[in-house]
Amino acid sequence: MAAEMAVVKPISKFSYATPKFTTPRMFSYSKFSTIRMSATSNPSSTNPSKKATKTEIKETLLTPRFYTTDFDEMEALFNTEINKNINNDEFEAMLQEFQTDYNKTHFVRNKEFKEAADKLDGPLRQIFVEFLERSCTAEFSGFLLYKELGRRLKKTNPIVAEMFSLMSRDEARHAGFLNKSLSDFNLALDLGFLTKARKYTFFKPKFILYATYLSEKIGYWRYITIYRHLKTNPEYQCYPIFKFFENWCQDENRHGDFISAMMKAHPTFLNDWKAKLWSRFFCLSVYVTMYLNDCQRTSFYEGIGLNTKEFDMHVIIETNRTAARLFPAVLDVANPKFQQRLDKMVEINEKIAAVSESDDIPVVKNLKKIPLIASLVSELVATYLMPPVESGSVNLAEFEPRLVY
Ligand SMILES: [Fe+2]
Ligand SMILES: [Fe+2]
Repeated sequence: MAAEMAVVKPISKFSYATPKFTTPRMFSYSKFSTIRMSATSNPSSTNPSKKATKTEIKETLLTPRFYTTDFDEMEALFNTEINKNINNDEFEAMLQEFQTDYNKTHFVRNKEFKEAADKLDGPLRQIFVEFLERSCTAEFSGFLLYKELGRRLKKTNPIVAEMFSLMSRDEARHAGFLNKSLSDFNLALDLGFLTKARKYTFFKPKFILYATYLSEKIGYWRYITIYRHLKTNPEYQCYPIFKFFENWCQDENRHGDFISAMMKAHPTFLNDWKAKLWSRFFCLSVYVTMYLNDCQRTSFYEGIGLNTKEFDMHVIIETNRTAARLFPAVLDVANPKFQQRLDKMVEINEKIAAVSESDDIPVVKNLKKIPLIASLVSELVATYLMPPVESGSVNLAEFEPRLVY
């Protein structure tokens, strides 16, 4: 998993229970400052070797979330005796590709990392650390979810279970690589703490599939777009992690293809009016979350030579095009009104952030936020109700794993 989805939640049930996960050894660091959630290095520091300080947790509506689901229902969904649409031969072909493990030796660091980190200074250094933290949290979130799915589906469907386990392997690798990068800034995310302390957002299995499919595909498009941009404009290559994105994004693409195959094994997730409504809902949620998040961090994208809004629209258009091959309906993102509405949401979100950061007492802040949240919701609803694009091609025999680029 590489992207985040937070703005809108279809389920009101939240699980506060913390599933038991083992924290892999690869995530344990002792010689650096550890981050509980969103600590950053001192932005004004000109001495890269100076130890960073811990800061407070910054949880917002747009913070990457951890997900949990109804694992019993998920087991039933992938029980081949209950669901005759499940074609394990197709899953087995995909499994072989996962087992090949194309990126086994890809994530190897070199001395360029530390040297580049030491050169990053001022606000860009701070925003860079935040990028690493958020990306690491999003990847780690995928690791936790897939690992648990791999464990829980073992008895019902060992092939699907193995695929989830191999996806969790990939996500652990991605999260570990990002956390190692944080060590270049003398920081490390405390992933063991995150596993235990963070709230888990509950999604029914069907919705986990919609959300993870889009997260994987949007992650693919984000990584490949940044990679291609920096290949063409190497003067913005300020930190070597981006050079790894080309192979990295293929992991996300394969993950998305597997989730796509899982959804096709349940045609009712894709072929009726409810599926159309849910598809549009999840597209909206994922796109808006990314747009609002990225517009809050334009200095990061500008720092690597991108125009934030152009970058996001490119990613949204490509992800939407990819999703249109699976989902029965998608948003009309080419309609100029779509971006206009996104921009309006950015404005409202900035006002909400300004209220949050004001010196008002909490009650006053909440009162001031009410009309702003109401107008944000009204923009969301208006965007959701824009005429959609009919799409999709639910052909159970059609899919096969493939590379996009
Ligand atoms: Fe990933
Ligand atoms: Fe992934």
